[in-house]
Amino acid sequence: MFKVDENTFLRKYRDSDDVELSKELADEEVTRYTTIPHPYTLQHAKTFISENKNLVGLFAIVQEDKVVGAIEYDQQKGCFAHKAIIGYWLKKGLWNQGIMKNALATLIKIVEKQNETAEIKIKRLEAHVCNGNEFSGRTLMRNGFEKEGILVKDFCKNNVYYDTTIYGKILE
Ligand SMILES: CC(C)(COP(=O)(O)OP(=O)(O)OC[C@H]1O[C@@H](n2cnc3c(N)ncnc32)[C@H](O)[C@@H]1OP(=O)(O)O)[C@@H](O)C(=O)NCCC(=O)NCCS
Repeated sequence: MFKVDENTFLRKYRDSDDVELSKELADEEVTRYTTIPHPYTLQHAKTFISENKNLVGLFAIVQEDKVVGAIEYDQQKGCFAHKAIIGYWLKKGLWNQGIMKNALATLIKIVEKQNETAEIKIKRLEAHVCNGNEFSGRTLMRNGFEKEGILVKDFCKNNVYYDTTIYGKILE
């Protein structure tokens, strides 16, 4: 368990999080710019948790032990193994309180800590943000990520194409 703020923690997913997860991810405003499907069902949540709960870099964001969001770093393989892709979401009722800014800062500390002993150290954190999702870009910039470029028609959901901005942060 990692502390984000007085009320908010990162922990691993549990099977019993399925109902809460399906409830929070039913909100299309939360999932619009993500690969998370809509509509999001209880079965989606059950399958996601059972297939992903042991991933090293994936954390549920919890308040009073209930899932209110998630954040992950996904370390890549081969010639990209020094790189991790960042993803996150938070329930809408908690937006604009600095929670994700602090959760991302916590995640970066976790990566730096695991780098101390890892055989392959993560040197680059990367996030792809759909144009229009300005809050996500600001969350990244508040944590020292820089805008690096734009990928045209990089993301497609419900037949709508979005350009994405790549944000990167280099770890020493
Ligand atoms: C992106 C997201 C995680 C941000 O979480 P958050 O906890 O609200 O972010 P923070 O409170 O830490 O704020 C980060 C920045 O966004 C701004 N922001 C967030 N919500 C805002 C709102 N409703 N109105 C105005 N500004 C807002 C904050 O002011 C802050 O910017 P600043 O530091 O320059 O003032 C959240 O909006 C979300 O879950 N979105 C849906 C999922 C998603 O898009 N994930 C990312 C995919 S790349």
